[in-house]
Amino acid sequence: MTQLQITRPDDWHVHLRDGDVLNHVAPYTAQQFARAIVMPNLQPPVTSVKQAVEYVDRIVHAIGDSDFEPLMTLYLTDNTSAEEIILAEKSCFVKAVKLYPAGATTNSSAGVTDIRKCDDALAAMEEAGLPLLVHGEVTDPAIDVFDREAAFIDQVLMPLMNRFPRLKIVFEHITTADAVDFVLNTGLTIGATITPQHLLLNRNAMFKGGMRPHNYCLPVLKREQHRQALLHAATSGSNKFFLGTDSAPHAKDKKESGCGCAGIFSAHAAIEMYATAFEEMNALDKLEGFASFNGPDFYGLSRNTETITLERTPWVIPDAYPLANGETLIPMMAGETLNWKLI
Ligand code: NCD
Ligand code: ZN
Repeated sequence: MTQLQITRPDDWHVHLRDGDVLNHVAPYTAQQFARAIVMPNLQPPVTSVKQAVEYVDRIVHAIGDSDFEPLMTLYLTDNTSAEEIILAEKSCFVKAVKLYPAGATTNSSAGVTDIRKCDDALAAMEEAGLPLLVHGEVTDPAIDVFDREAAFIDQVLMPLMNRFPRLKIVFEHITTADAVDFVLNTGLTIGATITPQHLLLNRNAMFKGGMRPHNYCLPVLKREQHRQALLHAATSGSNKFFLGTDSAPHAKDKKESGCGCAGIFSAHAAIEMYATAFEEMNALDKLEGFASFNGPDFYGLSRNTETITLERTPWVIPDAYPLANGETLIPMMAGETLNWKLI
């Protein structure tokens, strides 16, 4: 196969940031995806519909005349009210609410300290059909960092689903066989996004010949057996799994630091990297469902109608992309060759 045409995909989990960084990174997402679920973990976080309106304006400005549609999210806190959820539902452009357990990841300090404090908001979301997007890791420092996703399933997710059986939940950026099994064996209210890095890399990639901060993200990369489980899930044809890059840009010096930020930038070549992963499984025929159908179906949105074309043309990913003020961004697979190119 030398060309692959699929319905234009959407990205169901992306960090577009704000200010100068937004202006630099948003066009990469807009050039391949029709829509994206935009994460609200700015500083300060997007906790209200009013802030989401202002943020969406800045995104639209950043992408210029592209017809890309940002789908907005609210950042859940211990104090999110049912009224704010109702406003979100009425807004039509806020499509979900994001749960960051406090301290779990980048800009999560304003996150939820105990999910039971959010019952009013969760009940309103269940009623409104507004999905909860979960960063599925416990924050207990006594739990090994590689076990935090599995612990989250037992300690938070299962009790939550028992208390709100009709609440739609997206288990974001899943990284383990445990999460795959849980999503597959639990009801239709739960779906999951999978990133390119968790499909293409295992945890060895963080330590190959030395510390590799640009392969560090949260949830952290896992063992090869987990990568295999994710590859099987993504290419299985199950409509519960869909594309969410978790593209999370941080300037080079924030990554290459004594305490490097978590996050991998993948928006420069996301669909090409997914194609590479699906080809590894001999399952390019399953890419369209994963990238373009399962997400909108889960969210109850229409599927896109235009198409994109990928061509088998080897190209080398740049070593860096520019950001404002002389800063740079090191992309996923910097300097490596990809066999698929978006045309
Ligand atoms: C994300 C970020 O930088 O905002 N980082 C990451 O490692 N994925 C936050 C997140 O999604 O956890
Ligand atoms: Zn994320």
